[in-house]
Amino acid sequence: MLPFNYEGFATKDTFFGRKEELIDINTFAQKSNNLLIYSLRRFGKSSMIKEQIERDTDTQYIYFDIFDITSENDFARLFLKAIAKAQKGGISTIMSKLPKLFSRVSFDVVFDSTTGKTKLSPTLNNISFEDAIEDAFNALFLMSEKQKLVVAIDEFQQVSLIENVKIDALLRKYMQENKKISYFFLGSKRHMLTDLFRYKAPLYEMATHYELQGIKLDDYIEYIQKYLKISDAFIVHIIDVAKNETKLIVHICSILYDRHAKKNITEKIINEIIKEIVMSKHSSYSMLFDSFSLGKKKAFKILCNHKDLYKKEVLDEYSISKQSLLSSLNALFKDEIIDKDKNWFIPDRTLELWGKSK
Ligand SMILES: Nc1ncnc2c1ncn2[C@@H]1O[C@H](COP(=O)(O)OP(=O)(O)OP(=O)(O)O)[C@@H](O)[C@H]1O
Ligand SMILES: [Mg+2]
Repeated sequence: MLPFNYEGFATKDTFFGRKEELIDINTFAQKSNNLLIYSLRRFGKSSMIKEQIERDTDTQYIYFDIFDITSENDFARLFLKAIAKAQKGGISTIMSKLPKLFSRVSFDVVFDSTTGKTKLSPTLNNISFEDAIEDAFNALFLMSEKQKLVVAIDEFQQVSLIENVKIDALLRKYMQENKKISYFFLGSKRHMLTDLFRYKAPLYEMATHYELQGIKLDDYIEYIQKYLKISDAFIVHIIDVAKNETKLIVHICSILYDRHAKKNITEKIINEIIKEIVMSKHSSYSMLFDSFSLGKKKAFKILCNHKDLYKKEVLDEYSISKQSLLSSLNALFKDEIIDKDKNWFIPDRTLELWGKSK
């Protein structure tokens, strides 16, 4: 098993760090409290929740990721599938249990040609969205009589894109009904997420906010030095260049391990690998950049290369007015290329490094 895995989620063998964070979220699960887990992209939210699911075998986790939903029925389908998947036993045992849990929704067994496995798929014909959700929660309430439950919804901010129904308001109604279930909401788009939990919004005060930072330096050092001959200072250098983005750090380590597992790692080796990772994305980033208007191109370059965006010298260098820079930044924000906290930033560190190298 390779120690560094930067695609998909960290697995039992590749997961490291997050000791305190796992204690924190476990406490919430045990007390049936709700959590809103936020972090920047690729910092390790999903890996952490998956690790918690592995470890906390006394609790039944209903995990689903709604990144791809385009309608309320997609949400209902993923929710129902996750509940069905959480049932124990073989497919025929599960099929016999489901009618006891669901009064309206029925399930079909379908063959998934990509995985070669059978899956359960809910049939939602002739059932309204509200009825499907009611069925889902009734099933959860029945299950929670026997076991503690955690419902974990990944990329939760996507519910705000569904305009036909207010999924958040509907969830609130059921979340208030039963106290033996925790709800974990995970996501990475801060403005969209916090909007769902803002004052007077249906989910206001329905979950404790928990911001996931990068993995701790000591944990990086302990894990990475098990596999690589690398000094503490160079590990700090990798973390700095990656701006703490877990995926990029693990990616760099994975290449170091492939090629230099037994050698002393130098700064030169590290910098060459970073350059290589950035260049491997060159064609897709170029295509993206070429699709920008002139104003957006300038705004993107300024953001990659300058801290003080509105300084006169910067604006002069790029021949752009403060006003049009601001409107181009807003346009990039709408396109989800850049994000905004206290300041504007590029959430994809590799893209930012590419922009710097242009
Ligand atoms: N604790 C960890 N130990 C080892 N690798 C990790 C850890 N956390 C994250 N990673 C690695 O970093 C990458 C990104 O992690 P993950 O997908 O869990 O982050 P995320 O915050 O859910 O990202 P996204 O915002 O894209 O949903 C994964 O490939 C994973 O292998
Ligand atoms: Mg994720």
